[in-house]
Amino acid sequence: MKKELVLEIIQERWSPYSFSSAPVEDFKLKAMLEAAGYAPSCNNEQPWVFVYSTQQDSEVFNEYIGFLAEANQIWARHAYAIIISMARTKFSFNGKTNKYAFHDTGMAVSNLLLQAFALDIYVHQMAGFSTEKVKEYFNLGDDLEPVAIMAVGYIGDGLSIPPELFKRDEKRRPKKTVNEFAFKNALSHPAF
Ligand SMILES: Cc1cc2nc3c(=O)[nH]c(=O)nc-3n(C[C@H](O)[C@H](O)[C@H](O)COP(=O)(O)O)c2cc1C
Repeated sequence: MKKELVLEIIQERWSPYSFSSAPVEDFKLKAMLEAAGYAPSCNNEQPWVFVYSTQQDSEVFNEYIGFLAEANQIWARHAYAIIISMARTKFSFNGKTNKYAFHDTGMAVSNLLLQAFALDIYVHQMAGFSTEKVKEYFNLGDDLEPVAIMAVGYIGDGLSIPPELFKRDEKRRPKKTVNEFAFKNALSHPAF
């Protein structure tokens, strides 16, 4: 059900399985990453790091696809771009653990998703990948942690993925109502 005051792009955004391999313009990818950079962060640390590849660099792109669980490879390999999000887990000013690094990287990703959607670009995030493979490939130390991998592109016609996966794209995924996750004064008291 539509929420009257919630921004349209927030309500309409969704994560498809069917992607078109059509190129996403560089200016759109740039705008998405720039939007990510506007996110708030603990101590303004901006701990997020993004590395991406597109089908135009097929060798690297396929290496990225190889990081994914097989169930994700099936559909994600058709997307035009793959973006890997990482988080710097130590504060730059004192070297101590930044326990908000993942939180803040998630906020940057949220900006990226919404900016993408406003430009007609879809993003599907994945936790189903091997962090070990990513760490090894990029030679990461323990201060830079892979967070998620995103498939990015224009919406597809469903022909390149198994029908049962495309079927999932027919319906939007259900969301909890606000009173299921928001409370007023006490956790036993629904917010509205
Ligand atoms: C951190 C994270 C990890 C996810 N991992 C996967 C994944 O490995 N495979 C997958 O198909 N979808 C994955 N998803 C997509 C979610 O299933 C999807 O966002 C959720 O069902 C809500 O749907 P919506 O994005 O269309 O609103 C992930 C989403 C997030 C935020």
